[in-house]
Amino acid sequence: MLVDMKGVGKEYEGVVPFLALSEVNLQVDKGEFVAIVGQSGSGKSTLLNLIGTLDRATTGTYLLDGHDIAQVSDSQLTRLRGELVGFVFQFHYLLPDFTVLENVLMPKAATRTRPTKEDTTEAMRLLERVGVAGEKDKLATAISGGQQQRVAIARALMGGKPLILADEPTGNLDSVNSESVFELMREVHDELKTTFMIVTHDERIADQCDRIIRITDGKIVDDHPRVAASPKS
Ligand SMILES: Nc1ncnc2c1ncn2[C@@H]1O[C@H](COP(=O)(O)OP(=O)(O)OP(=O)(O)O)[C@@H](O)[C@H]1O
Ligand SMILES: [Mg+2]
Repeated sequence: MLVDMKGVGKEYEGVVPFLALSEVNLQVDKGEFVAIVGQSGSGKSTLLNLIGTLDRATTGTYLLDGHDIAQVSDSQLTRLRGELVGFVFQFHYLLPDFTVLENVLMPKAATRTRPTKEDTTEAMRLLERVGVAGEKDKLATAISGGQQQRVAIARALMGGKPLILADEPTGNLDSVNSESVFELMREVHDELKTTFMIVTHDERIADQCDRIIRITDGKIVDDHPRVAASPKS
């Protein structure tokens, strides 16, 4: 079990504390391809941040790949996250002053002073896989939005992480690019068996995931495998 949450809640501190998530019970196995949907403000990003250990739950227990997150120190957590979780956001967050290749190498650069030859080989292989190897020496700002999101996916995949968390990864793209970036994630999943959890507003995208989790007011209100619809035309 990769993700195992029992009775998880998240209360944001503040003048008026706000309960953004409550009573979340969620199990996700390695290799699943999951959509998380819900209205704006329902708690999707909060849930994704907890899963990715960018934030900690205020109640309940969360085991990530068997590690009890409440028991792990901040430095251990940083290492664990680096090994297990890749992130893709709506706004790709590539570093503008660096090239495409340097951006993909960034997760490695964070742990070492210089990327190894093997790191560069892996980065190039991933850039080829996502279809932007030809842009490797361009600055991250000098490629299109769709290409930037492909680079962000390559960066998330560096190091063979088993879990990719994507928060509205196609939210900033036109429908053609949106479809092809989604297709890419689907293909990577089918090839590498990487687990994907994708927050999306787009019902057409959710409908192409294997499992759909619906959140309303901080609670999971629906969680079921996609109904085997008519074959994709
Ligand atoms: N740091 C914070 N402090 C206080 N409240 C917060 C914080 N972050 C989010 N919230 C609140 O928690 C609730 C859930 O927010 P969250 O960002 O998880 O929603 P979301 O489903 O991702 O929405 P969207 O679709 O607009 O991205 C919202 O009511 C939001 O205002
Ligand atoms: Mg959000």
